[in-house]
Amino acid sequence: MNILLIGSGGREHAFAWKLTQSKLCDKLFIAPGNAGTASCGINLPVAVTDFELLSAACISNKVDLILVGPEEPLVKGVFDYFKNNPATQHITVIGPSKEASQLEGSKAFAKAFMQRHNIPTAAYGEFTIDNYTDGVEYIKAHSLPIVLKADGLAAGKGVLICQHTLEALSEFELMLHRSKFGDAGKKVVVEEFLKGIELSVFVLTDGENYLLLPEAKDYKRVGEGDTGLNTGGMGAVSPLPFADAPFLQKVKEKIIEPTIAGLKKDKLEYKGFIFFGLMNDDGEPKVIEYNCRMGDPETEVVIPRIKNDLVELLQATAQQKLHEITIDTDPRFAAAVVAVSGGYPGDYKTDITIQGLEDDVLENSLVFQSGTKQQSGEVVTNGGRVLVVTSFGDTISEAAEQSNYMMEQLYFEGMYYRSDIGYEFP
Ligand code: AMP
Ligand code: GLY
Repeated sequence: MNILLIGSGGREHAFAWKLTQSKLCDKLFIAPGNAGTASCGINLPVAVTDFELLSAACISNKVDLILVGPEEPLVKGVFDYFKNNPATQHITVIGPSKEASQLEGSKAFAKAFMQRHNIPTAAYGEFTIDNYTDGVEYIKAHSLPIVLKADGLAAGKGVLICQHTLEALSEFELMLHRSKFGDAGKKVVVEEFLKGIELSVFVLTDGENYLLLPEAKDYKRVGEGDTGLNTGGMGAVSPLPFADAPFLQKVKEKIIEPTIAGLKKDKLEYKGFIFFGLMNDDGEPKVIEYNCRMGDPETEVVIPRIKNDLVELLQATAQQKLHEITIDTDPRFAAAVVAVSGGYPGDYKTDITIQGLEDDVLENSLVFQSGTKQQSGEVVTNGGRVLVVTSFGDTISEAAEQSNYMMEQLYFEGMYYRSDIGYEFP
């Protein structure tokens, strides 16, 4: 079959790399893709939210299945667009409907969903300009730290963890009265701070059944030792030694299964990946957030650890036959290290030549590209996160060490990466 993959990051390069290994994949198209995905299939210069052009491209290229990488097209309704158009309704879209994507697109929607279905999460209040003074009272009476979240998508910047009440009140005012996050912050979720160790758990669901995929941990802060600003993710590791069988059993019973049952009960159409951002508080899992897609850079450690044919998994998802499949996982540890442009997550330069990509990649390592493009026969930088190296090892530290070593073979001006990914797992 012909497949279209939507997106342009390291996640999509990892997906593209895996899709092309399937005998079921005839032609692979990526919209818009990057210099890395160009080596796996045909990049189409179409923006991820240009549904009209995407559907024209699917019709002319006889695409049978679409895998959606990022959240934006999902939250904007790519699933519904293809389903509701007679010319494209035969095409399978792997990803939730617009309404179900609200699990990621609206924090208030996600919180209400969890409350309705008894899924453990932080206690919260929801406020707009209409009940502003209630919000002020709620914040004043709340223990510290306190968490403020812009309701809508805010490019990963909409969550504020405040250590002081005055800071929380001032941020609350900025969001509701001064449009700090634009429309995304017109509604604010104020919630309890959860302590514990964060982890990401992923499932692939067909709306009825689900497959638990390998779990991962993402390193969000830009600086070593988890310091500095938040980023899209500077590295990831999988599996996690602390996510043992009893803990994962609790995650299934208390979180995953009620979520899938809740989607069904609420008639939310969902055939795709669910990303559970969890806190493990002394062995008790709670949901921090839902994402309606795979994570980046988590995909770069999760997908290489899955031995199954990805196209078979996606087909079974579309046909609601996931109960017929078992996930076959590589038992080794994987560690991904992300190289970013100097200045990221603030301003950074682009169009800088990347060196070393043509050199041999070590056995047990993979190089995925994120913010790259081809220009005058060279691969140049085209984003904050530029390259991802994933390596396997018998321990997390062995895998991370090899990714760091491989990173040393790659270079672009201003390149920076954290050399301490997996540091807490010696
Ligand atoms: P999000 O944008 O929802 O991914 O949140 C960004 C990060 O903020 C999460 O990955 C957590 O590290 C942190 N966070 C969000 N909500 C909470 C919470 N209630 N308690 C503690 N940390 C949180
Ligand atoms: N790495 C976090 C995310 O993909 O949202």
